[in-house]
Amino acid sequence: MEEEARLLLGELGEPIDELKAAAVNVPSAGSGSLSGRRILLIIGGGIAAYKCLDLIRRLRERGARVRPVLTKAAEEFVTPLAVGALAGDKVFTELFSREDEHDVGHIRLSREADLIVVAPATADLMAKMANGLANDLASTVLLASDKPLLIAPAMNPKMWNHAATRRNRATLEKDGIRLVGPGTGEMAESGESGPGRMAEPLEIVAAVEELLDRNPKPLAGKTIVMTSGPTHEPIDPVRYIANRSSGKQGHAIAAALAQLGATVRLVSGPVTIPDPEGVSVVHVESAREMRDAVEQFLPADAAVMVAAVADWRTANESGEKLKKRPGEKAPALQMVENPDILAGVGHSKLRPSLVVGFAAETQDLLTNAREKLDKKGADWIVANDVSHATGVMGGDRNAVRIVTRSGVEEWPDMTKAEVAERLAAKISAALQTVEV
Ligand code: C5P
Repeated sequence: MEEEARLLLGELGEPIDELKAAAVNVPSAGSGSLSGRRILLIIGGGIAAYKCLDLIRRLRERGARVRPVLTKAAEEFVTPLAVGALAGDKVFTELFSREDEHDVGHIRLSREADLIVVAPATADLMAKMANGLANDLASTVLLASDKPLLIAPAMNPKMWNHAATRRNRATLEKDGIRLVGPGTGEMAESGESGPGRMAEPLEIVAAVEELLDRNPKPLAGKTIVMTSGPTHEPIDPVRYIANRSSGKQGHAIAAALAQLGATVRLVSGPVTIPDPEGVSVVHVESAREMRDAVEQFLPADAAVMVAAVADWRTANESGEKLKKRPGEKAPALQMVENPDILAGVGHSKLRPSLVVGFAAETQDLLTNAREKLDKKGADWIVANDVSHATGVMGGDRNAVRIVTRSGVEEWPDMTKAEVAERLAAKISAALQTVEV
């Protein structure tokens, strides 16, 4: 173990190849006990920090996504390069990093986690947490968070037994923070024996599993078919008709539903954003391909059709690239109607018990949305105004109304991730009350 520690600390030369090999063997998302769970791992500055490399590996093996934050002191024990290679994610170290703040920011680091783990939790970090100090990225994230928290203390036995640490520990436990370890044994750096040795990675993993298990998965066992993104309708082999949909809202909803435990089958048109975590995605181009893929996924408990499907496609698609010839007129594009995928699902024999459609409108939002309920056989229409002033298409915010047969719910302007979370919660509540 000591040799392993020295290797990871870089004392035996270049550890990069080993790290790369280790990282390659870690699946990015699996069907394990922590599948789709997001863990923010705060690594404190203690010799036990080297164990975090194994901890990251163990968490990822179980399907968790691990996003690491290193304190300045932690960087003395493990390098961001090693941690980042194993986590397969960016490593966050600075409170005032222009790039990080722009990218994610300390509030989002906490918001985008299901659980925060502090390992090793040094005496200093425990003291900061107990007293609400926030003078670096790690302590600021901890203070700005309302997420469940697990800490794995690691320190010298004298520090662990000190009256100040005892007081801090009692405060943290009173605040609802869960501790794992420390164990009793020989200290790596001094050879002293006593309490203060960080819990082993597998003990920490077991505590993580237990804590997250308490997090309900109300959609476990439910299957939800979804569409997202635009469609591309070919004119010839190189040209197509498209629209401005980015897929951001649909993909965020897919991720939020998966987070609640649903099995999400997402049929996505061409987008440039990554597949949502924990979701199986079928990539298609045209409306007809999208319809065929959706049909394959029926029956399902719910359908959420967010894609901006082209209403029309060219009737006279050319097998060869259309040529511009001197003296000839521009080609006339003949259009025919595309299949309406939502209406097909809404009126299908295999109709899911909950069918949700979207309505992107630039005028008469509510009238159009209400009409769509019947025309498309939907239970809810999520209506959003996509007129230019709102910047919804491609942007990160959305203001929607949920139109149902019993009325209209108006939601304030919020991020697409927030719309997704709220809609997923509403879908979850609806699926608990219907017989499926
Ligand atoms: O009629 P409109 O395009 O406004 O309807 C929008 C809703 O219908 C969205 O939920 C969209 O995904 C769905 N739709 C569809 N197939 C089409 C057109 C729209 O599934 N061909």
